[in-house]
Amino acid sequence: MATKTPAEIVSSLQAGYTFSGSSVALGAAIVDGAVHPEAQVSLPLAMMNRHGLVAGATGTGKTVTLHMMAEQLSTAGVPVFMADIKGDLTGLATAGTGSDKLTARTQGIGQQWESKAFPVEFLALGGAGNGVPVRATITSFGPILLSRVLGLNETQESSLQLVFHYADTKGLELYDLKDLRAVIQFLTSDEGKADLEELGGLSKATAGVILRNLITLDAQGMSDFFGMPEFDTAELLRTAPDGRGVITCLELPSVQDKPLLFSTFLMWLLADLFRDLPEVGDADKPKLVFFFDEAHLLFTGASKAFLNAITQTVRLIRSKGVGIFFVTQTPKDVPGDVLAQLANRVQHALRAFTPDDAKALKATVSTFPVSDYNLEEVLTSAGIGEAVVTVMNENGAPTPVALTRMRAPGSVMGPAADDAVKAVVAASSLLPTYGTAVDPVSAYEKLQGQAAAPTTGPAVGTPLPPPPPANLPAPKNDGGGLGAEVMGALGGALGGGVKSMIRSMGSQLGRSLMRDMFGTAPRRRR
Ligand SMILES: Nc1ncnc2c1ncn2[C@@H]1O[C@H](COP(=O)(O)OP(=O)(O)OP(=O)(O)O)[C@@H](O)[C@H]1O
Ligand SMILES: [Mg+2]
Repeated sequence: MATKTPAEIVSSLQAGYTFSGSSVALGAAIVDGAVHPEAQVSLPLAMMNRHGLVAGATGTGKTVTLHMMAEQLSTAGVPVFMADIKGDLTGLATAGTGSDKLTARTQGIGQQWESKAFPVEFLALGGAGNGVPVRATITSFGPILLSRVLGLNETQESSLQLVFHYADTKGLELYDLKDLRAVIQFLTSDEGKADLEELGGLSKATAGVILRNLITLDAQGMSDFFGMPEFDTAELLRTAPDGRGVITCLELPSVQDKPLLFSTFLMWLLADLFRDLPEVGDADKPKLVFFFDEAHLLFTGASKAFLNAITQTVRLIRSKGVGIFFVTQTPKDVPGDVLAQLANRVQHALRAFTPDDAKALKATVSTFPVSDYNLEEVLTSAGIGEAVVTVMNENGAPTPVALTRMRAPGSVMGPAADDAVKAVVAASSLLPTYGTAVDPVSAYEKLQGQAAAPTTGPAVGTPLPPPPPANLPAPKNDGGGLGAEVMGALGGALGGGVKSMIRSMGSQLGRSLMRDMFGTAPRRRR
């Protein structure tokens, strides 16, 4: 390998990155220290649902890489979702201003740079920050995701599942935190004693722990994130009137200190999308690309059920045309089962200051195919906005590894002016639907002041929200593996609607898989 001349390497890269369909242009290859605009490195649109990883030390260009990819996806008519942790993606809505430095860079890699703004939607969790408020109901969040936010252990997690089950059978809607509190408070009161006993498996002590954690969550100001109106994830799939894909940025700077909440919330969005999207098989471009920044936050301290649900969702969402790109500092931040599914890799520079860094570097190198580069050297010396790339080609094989000088975005790199963001939010077509919180009659109202809470049958009042649209693969009598696995993944991630879906599938396999995932028979709500 080391015997190849630079010219031979360049021509093997040219061959390796020649695709028949459309692709996202990433940049130009650097071989032997020289940039080769004739060797363009790109990523086939049709392979974006094979997921990806953008990694690198801080300040090496990860966010700009996402930004630039999102622009091209939008131009190709593909909607994009991005978690904007630092608020530095808001520039997407404003056309960039060129500079001599930028021109020199873009000309050097053969990029025709054009100043351009993009169709952007800004969302904010519970309205905290600059964005259209997004909320989820406790019901659809489900016990597993909620357990993660509450920091519950696995025993407490299954107790919470029982609480959901109870609320469901009693027709007590769980929209917001106070609904859930009311149900647990009732179960631990004298009036609820009989019901608690009947439930079995939920001890008063554990209920007390859950209740305390709920109160803490509330005190941390998290109650606004749960409730109605609930965000419909289909909003993420829109295109602008000019045919470009809408780029939805979930603005998270104001909740940066609540990493568990936002990483779990992102998982909810994904799981919800997953449930509602139809199967599309292999298409020439994705339906949506989802960029998951600071992805390590999703995995640290995750319960087994939670990790399992992530792995399954990532694996199965591909056939629904959704591509997920995780963004972390090193591939080590992503569990092996998930990493193995990320075919498209953009690895920015890594540091090698400490023995730990050196280990991470070696591990990173080992995840790349054999190449014509000395990857250890290249990865520690790559400049800002340069990355080692390998993607999946149209035949499903990895492309040759290419050190790449990445393209620059046409919109503003970094945060836009506050006023510009506010103007986009004020003009959003989502604002009338999601702008104002509502508080319909639900468990809290039904249980309030009731000495004798409902003990038989569903309580009167607002009916349960309608079941989720079941755009799932058609039930197969042979218990089709995929369908059953979908149920399993959904059960894990959402904890909602599973019972009814399994019923509609009529699949024994679905039921047994549920047991595999949770160790017991399903006892989800709805
Ligand atoms: N492709 C590029 N073209 C031009 N400039 C770039 C490019 N990539 C990065 N830069 C420059 O480097 C700066 C830092 O990049 P970026 O914010 O993407 O780093 P990061 O890896 O996301 O850092 P962090 O881990 O701190 O979030 C950018 O603000 C920009 O000035
Ligand atoms: Mg960044």
